[in-house]
Amino acid sequence: MTTAVAPDTNADTAGQQRFDEIIAADSRIEPTDWMPAAYRKTLTRQISQHAHSEIIGMQPEANWISRAPSLKRKAILMAKVQDEAGHGLYLYSAAETLGTSRDELVNQLLEGKAKYSSIFNYPARTWADIGAIGWLVDGAAICNQVPLCRASYAPYARAMVRICKEESFHQRQGWEILYELSNGTPEQKQMAQEAINRLYRPALQMFGPPDADSAHSGQSMKWNIKRFSNDELRQRFVDMIVPQVEALGLTFEDPDLKWNEERGHYDFGELDWDEFFNAINGNGPLNSQRLKRRREAFDDGAWVREAAAAYDRKHNRVDTALVV
Ligand SMILES: [Fe+2]
Ligand SMILES: [Fe+2]
Repeated sequence: MTTAVAPDTNADTAGQQRFDEIIAADSRIEPTDWMPAAYRKTLTRQISQHAHSEIIGMQPEANWISRAPSLKRKAILMAKVQDEAGHGLYLYSAAETLGTSRDELVNQLLEGKAKYSSIFNYPARTWADIGAIGWLVDGAAICNQVPLCRASYAPYARAMVRICKEESFHQRQGWEILYELSNGTPEQKQMAQEAINRLYRPALQMFGPPDADSAHSGQSMKWNIKRFSNDELRQRFVDMIVPQVEALGLTFEDPDLKWNEERGHYDFGELDWDEFFNAINGNGPLNSQRLKRRREAFDDGAWVREAAAAYDRKHNRVDTALVV
């Protein structure tokens, strides 16, 4: 584990000064650099929550692999779900460089102490939901994550570059599912419309609460972790998806959605933030099921971890779980 906290006040002052210079120059902080304890804590929380979201987010889609309508769709969906597992792994690795072990981070999730993206507490009811998840959920993730490729903490920024490339593929596969459905039979088109109706608002909520109510936003922007506010990113996303839904021949169920000539952006309706906080705080439609499944998967994988550790011991390697 890294221990970058300096032992005396003089070193702290020099460290802080160097840190401030790096941030002011819009340069990158590496794991061996001195950093304020609050910066380390904020990043550990953010990166681990992000990792948990990737791993929990595999569930609604993995559910549909066996029911995907063709071999080609199964192969594509399987590749996507595997990508999400990879994203979780890069992100746990990035979080570990801040000094908290993966075991501890995973435990926080399994014990229900860690948060993850609220969107994954909603069910994927039909095949069209898989299209809407790819298009809207991965689409929102891209809007959120492209600016994170320039985050001040270098291991996080490096992980995001690769993740964003894969998310672009995810979004296109989702859009293509919906495109085929919306150009199919009237029933298929209806199924696509209903999936969009279910996921439109939760997708907009993925950017987090409005700026006025966001606890972490301001400081994260000062540290160059976040580059744009929640509301700015949400607006950018709405402006992006409205022409896309029109190209699909579908609509968003939002009577307040209209082009605002003066602002040069689309206006859109108020979101239900009580529902959002309810889901974030563990009371969404599927929170307990998602965590139960994750605990089962973790327990089922115990033999793999034990076998890997036994192999390492036999070959005198360091326990991989302790390597940062
Ligand atoms: Fe992902
Ligand atoms: Fe994705």
